[in-house]
Amino acid sequence: MKIKDVVEKQLGRLPPGMLTGAFKVAKKIPWVRERIEREYSTMLEAMETSLRPYRGEFPSYTALPAEGTSRTEVLEVMRAMSEREESRWRDGYVSGAVYHGNRDHIEFLSEVYALHSQVNPLHSDLWPSATKYEAEIVAMTAAMLGGDAVPAGPKGEDGVCGVVSSGGTESILLAMKTYRDQARQRGIKHPELVLPTSAHAAFDKAGLYFGIELVKVPVGPDFKADVAAMTQAITRNTIALVGSTPSFPHGVIDPIESLSEVARGHGIGMHVDACLGGFVLPWAERLGYKVPVFDFRLPGVTSMSADTHKYGYAAKGTSVVLYRGHALRRFQYYTTTEWPGGMYFSPTLAGSRPGALSAAAWAAMVSIGERGYMDSTRAILETAATIREGIEAIPGLRVLGDPLWVIAFAADDLDVYRVMEHMSHQGWNLNGLHKPACVHLCVTLRHTQDGIAERFLADLREAVSVVTATPSEGGSIAPVYGLAGTIPVRGVVSDVLERYMDLLYKV
Ligand SMILES: Cc1ncc(COP(=O)(O)O)c(C=O)c1O
Repeated sequence: MKIKDVVEKQLGRLPPGMLTGAFKVAKKIPWVRERIEREYSTMLEAMETSLRPYRGEFPSYTALPAEGTSRTEVLEVMRAMSEREESRWRDGYVSGAVYHGNRDHIEFLSEVYALHSQVNPLHSDLWPSATKYEAEIVAMTAAMLGGDAVPAGPKGEDGVCGVVSSGGTESILLAMKTYRDQARQRGIKHPELVLPTSAHAAFDKAGLYFGIELVKVPVGPDFKADVAAMTQAITRNTIALVGSTPSFPHGVIDPIESLSEVARGHGIGMHVDACLGGFVLPWAERLGYKVPVFDFRLPGVTSMSADTHKYGYAAKGTSVVLYRGHALRRFQYYTTTEWPGGMYFSPTLAGSRPGALSAAAWAAMVSIGERGYMDSTRAILETAATIREGIEAIPGLRVLGDPLWVIAFAADDLDVYRVMEHMSHQGWNLNGLHKPACVHLCVTLRHTQDGIAERFLADLREAVSVVTATPSEGGSIAPVYGLAGTIPVRGVVSDVLERYMDLLYKV
């Protein structure tokens, strides 16, 4: 609580907006600045220790070695670190992050990667195989997400189409740039995007990068997008609505059917962020779970993002963004005809791209097939149901919303971040969320291994009983999380995050 104390003591309890302004001014006063810097460095020192566990143990480089290190030595060092990092995710202690992780699957993807490590889809003439893989990844994803229900038109121009991107964030950035440029053509100079507060941070990033104003609408008590409030927020400048299936924080599915009808009625875009659920929900529906229609079968849905590198079980670094009709996708493309380097075009944000990752995504999809995805989805949803019921049975904890496999829980009379901290002492790596304070577990195939759900619940029961018995005891993670959520001077929190990013690049 030190930073909060310092700032609040010096600045008093001003409204948050004024506090942020006052903080910026106060930072310029030498003694305030010095004091704040001192607090930051204490906090960052602790972070640095946990970010650099290998310091002194393995060679580190701040310049190229004069002579190359032998490949054997390089591999030895890398293997040692990789082995040390592996057990935590392999043994199912981590929320999300590694979605498949079976040894034979990883070996297969690695073999595919090795075959294609030099491939760059930018050179479609050199590697038509990469072009084939990407076109087919898009087609298979579109078919899975209701694309077949969209009439293609006489030349196929009206059908669902898309591109392969580097991840969920890039897919979202691309879709938002697309809507901005489409709206520009209609004369909208100050574009606005209406989205629930639960939508992923990637939409914020898009707003910042592309000059789109975000109109964030609070979610309802069920943590779902509030359709009436979102409708009210639409103006003449609104370019699109957003809904998630499910949302990252609470794993709930927004009411896409209603939102898409509102969007259609206003003649604006409707982006469905299925980064997390695109490769789960279609199979859940087939398995008989109650899944509302959320994809291109709804006529108002104009774009979707779905991550191959999450539940598509590809290697990290691919996602798919889909559009209703080729005309919409064209707003995403980049072309230049005047560059001395020649005619240049690129469909996504990057120029050169790792074709090996597209090859691996294609290989994952084709080798797993519908049956494989269905079996995985069944296992994940059954495990998640056990975990959800188990959490609900723990006095003091409360599951938020009505999630299928991303299960967020809060605690009424306990510090839920302290519960998370005790879980981390048992090896767990869970996601701490705020507004409201809660923690989530994103269930993956790693958790479907024998005994993992039971171990999670036993550890959670234990953590709750320890925190209940010692309600006032501090900790190291809990105060940071608690502070980050409640500190009124958001500039302080941003400062800490920026310094953390600086640390990532410190040798
Ligand atoms: C719903 C949702 N959208 C977008 C993203 C961003 O994906 P990425 O981390 O691949 O950029 C995530 C990531 O977890 C997500 O859960």
